[in-house]
Amino acid sequence: MTDNVLKASIAEAAAYVRAHIGDRAPRIGIILGSGLGPLADQVEDPAYVPFADVPHMHRSTATGHVGRFVCGTLAGTPVIVMQGRLHGYEGNSAQDVALPVWVMNELGVETLITTNAAGAINENYRVGEFCIMSDHINFTGRNPVVGTEPDGIAPRFFSMLDAYDPELRALAHRVADERSIPVEEGVYLGLLGPSFETPAEIRAFRSWGADTVAMSVVEEVIAARHVGMRVLGISLLSNMACGVESANPSDEEVFEVAKEAEPRFCSLVEGIVAEL
Ligand code: HPA
Repeated sequence: MTDNVLKASIAEAAAYVRAHIGDRAPRIGIILGSGLGPLADQVEDPAYVPFADVPHMHRSTATGHVGRFVCGTLAGTPVIVMQGRLHGYEGNSAQDVALPVWVMNELGVETLITTNAAGAINENYRVGEFCIMSDHINFTGRNPVVGTEPDGIAPRFFSMLDAYDPELRALAHRVADERSIPVEEGVYLGLLGPSFETPAEIRAFRSWGADTVAMSVVEEVIAARHVGMRVLGISLLSNMACGVESANPSDEEVFEVAKEAEPRFCSLVEGIVAEL
């Protein structure tokens, strides 16, 4: 996509969403991963905008991903929540995955909280805990900024140092401590999927320094950093990664664990948002 086309797509998509959210002016964007969608039900004075209705946006086909924006207030803070996300494994390009992030930025969102369910590579981690992302390894083989003009929507080259904002990470730890919610902090590795990893891949990823693994987030975070948004990434550890403690992850396990974690997840994210 050339930059002019991309810029026009972002502008048209943002104009559509703006026209359907009235005078709501979101400051925080929240992307809800697999099984974590129920947090969107806590949004007050909600306006709903299905992804499929937004020009240039694709519909969500992933299990349990409702696929809509929910705009309103959470813990008194104006937010726009993505109840579900777009994944590369659904056939979306890296820019398709990034588009809603750029649209939220165009709507005035400066801080992105992106969440997912992830497998734990680190053997000290436990299923049901949360992991604050300290950094990532993009192993999708793709990057949403490829093909944009050198000084198009933002300068082509940009730093990924502290891509996961240190202050937001510290805030997340503080809120988790105050609420006695178990959290880890570690390096997240993002893949295209949809096959789960092999035990040999998990051993290799561990040797690279990865603590968690899943099939989302990295392209969103690259897109967000490209336009200067602050980012916080939180994974629910829904399973041990393939081969760790003989684990053999499945979609069903991910949803079961997410259901059980729902109250802790809502408490953690609402506590963070309340202070932003
Ligand atoms: N691997 C990849 N994606 C995932 C996992 C996993 O173990 N758990 C949840 N999403």
